[in-house]
Amino acid sequence: MKARRLFTVPLALLVAAWIGAPGASTGQSEEKVDYLTQVKPILEGFCYECHGEDRTRREANLRLDIKEKAFADLGGYPNIAPGDPDDSELYIRVSTEFAEMRMPPYEAGTQLNDEQVETIRLWILQGAEWPEEEGGEEEEVETDG
Ligand code: HEC
Repeated sequence: MKARRLFTVPLALLVAAWIGAPGASTGQSEEKVDYLTQVKPILEGFCYECHGEDRTRREANLRLDIKEKAFADLGGYPNIAPGDPDDSELYIRVSTEFAEMRMPPYEAGTQLNDEQVETIRLWILQGAEWPEEEGGEEEEVETDG
């Protein structure tokens, strides 16, 4: 019969590694989520198709590519409620268990993974900062000497 002692050492190592593991954190004290590098790519990849520039394909009259529109009221409830993901329709829609409410819709054939949903949650929780960006009103300001 063979002794099955080989598990003891690896287990100890595993526990040590787990205790010392960096970044195994959850929630509030997370690093700040950056809109431009972390949130926008998700919206761009999964949402703009139906909530972007192309008005012929736009659904629910909702745009997520323009700050002003993304923060607009949806008729009594906010799309994005800074600091409160659970009150934000955008987060509710990407996190709901109800398939018929979930975004992107089932027919789109794509889904956000848990990490992407969590990125959106944290971003809203942290205040949903959305810096003004390229395009738009960028004008050279001339100052009289
Ligand atoms: C394939 C098209 C499609 C894609 C992609 C899509 N949506 Fe939608 N979205 C819809 C349609 C259609 C509706 C209206 C029906 C409904 O409310 O479920 C809608 C509605 C919504 C609403 C509710 C608007 C309101 O007035 O209540 C939100 C919020 C939303 N989408 C967010 C998103 C987000 C966030 C993504 C990306 C993660 C996304 N959608 C991707 C088609 C899409």
